[in-house]
Amino acid sequence: MSRENHTTTMRTASYEADPEEVRRVMLLYSGGLDTSVMLKWIQDQYDAEVVCLTVNLGQPDEDYRVIEDKARRLGAAECHVVDAREEFAREYVSPAIMANALYGGGYPLFTALGRPLIAKLAVEYARRAGCDTIAHGCTGKGNDQVRIEATIATLAPELGVIAPVRSWQMGREQELAYAQEHGIPVKGASETPPYSIDDNLWGRSSEGRWIEELEHAPEDDVFQLVSRPEEAPDEPEVVELAFERGVPVGLNGEPLELVELLERTAQIGARHGVGIVDHIEDRIVGLKVRDIYEVPAAAIVLPAHQELERLVCTIHQNQFKPQLDRQWAYLVYAGLWWEPLRGDLDAYMQRVNETVTGTIGLKLYKGHARVITRSSPNAVYDAGLASFSESGGLFSQAASPGFIELWSLQSRMAWRMRNRP
Ligand code: ARG
Repeated sequence: MSRENHTTTMRTASYEADPEEVRRVMLLYSGGLDTSVMLKWIQDQYDAEVVCLTVNLGQPDEDYRVIEDKARRLGAAECHVVDAREEFAREYVSPAIMANALYGGGYPLFTALGRPLIAKLAVEYARRAGCDTIAHGCTGKGNDQVRIEATIATLAPELGVIAPVRSWQMGREQELAYAQEHGIPVKGASETPPYSIDDNLWGRSSEGRWIEELEHAPEDDVFQLVSRPEEAPDEPEVVELAFERGVPVGLNGEPLELVELLERTAQIGARHGVGIVDHIEDRIVGLKVRDIYEVPAAAIVLPAHQELERLVCTIHQNQFKPQLDRQWAYLVYAGLWWEPLRGDLDAYMQRVNETVTGTIGLKLYKGHARVITRSSPNAVYDAGLASFSESGGLFSQAASPGFIELWSLQSRMAWRMRNRP
C-alpha cells in the first residue's frame, strides 16, 4: 500500500483525481485484462475501495454473471451490471438514425454513441455508491478517453477521473505478469495478443495486429459477427423495414421494439455478409488509424432511412440536411455529446423526420443491401406527374421553356462574357 508512490501524481487537467483524495473508485469494468488488472492495481496503489460497473449495450455473447463473479473475487466492494440496451437504442441510436450518422463516410458511430451513455451511468452509480473517483480502461491514444472524460467533467465536476492504462506504463507482457502475480484469471494468456474489440447492438470494431498494416488484406478470423460474403447464402433475401417519424418500428410486417428490431436486423444482415467496412479514420487526437467494422444492422437501417427521407423531403431539404448530418456525426465522434449544438441539431433532425414514415424493402445478397421498394403516405411523389402522359393539374409542360429561359439566364450571360470574340 503506497499512497506516496504511484505513477499518477502528475495532473494536467482539473478533473484528474488528486491521488491523495482517492478513497472509493467507480471502475468501468468489462472483465477483460486491462480492467481486471486495474481492479487490483487501484486497491493496491491508492489503498482505495473499488465499486464495479458493467454496462450491457447489447454486446453479443457476454456472460454478465461471469464478469460480476470475477469482479467480486478480485475484491470489488460492490458490483453493478446495468442493462442499458433500451436507453441506448432509444436515446442514442434513434437520433443517429434520424441523422443518417456516418463518420468519415463509413463508421456508424456505435462506440462513439455508447461512451457518453456509459460515462453518464458511471456518474449516476458513482454518486449513488458514494464514490469520489471514476476509473476507466481507455488508453491515451484513442477517442474513447475523450468521450468518457468529457462526459464526466461535464456532468459531474465534483468527481475525479483516473485512467491507469494511460499512466501505468505496463505493456501487455507486464500486465500478464501482474495478473499472474495477483491471481487474476486470464483467458488465452500465452496466445498471440487478441484484436482490440469493442461492440454493442449497433456494431463491432476490431483494431490492432495486422489491421495496422495498411497493405494487409483482412484475414478471415477477424470476422466474428458478419459471415464472409463469399460464404453467404446463394439465395438473396428481401427485408422490409417500416419507419415512423424516422425511427424503425417494424421488420417484415411485424411491429417490434427497437432493441429487438435492431438485433434481428443485425442477424439477417450478418447471415448475408452485409456490413463489413474496412475503414481509415481520422481520430480526434490526431492519429490516422484503420478499423475493421462489422455493422450489419446499420448497413441495412441507415440506407433504408436515408431513402425514405429523400422520398418525403423536398429538393431543398435534401440538399441541406446532409451538411447537418455530417456536423452531427462529427460532434458525436469527437466526444461532444453534451454540447448544446448537438441538441440544436437534434431538434432540426426531429422536425424533418416528422414525415419520415413508410416502408422500405431491401434485397440482401452476398455482402450487399440494395433498396428495391419504397412506400410512404408522405412521399413528395406522384406517379402521374412523373410519367409523361398526365399532368395531374400541377404541372404544365408548356411552362417549361419559360422556366428554362430564366433558370439559365445568368449562366448564359456569363458564358457570353467569357467567350467574347
Ligand atoms: N474507431 C472507433 C471509434 O473511435 C472504434 C473505437 C473502438 N474502441 C475500442 N476501445 N476498441 O469510435
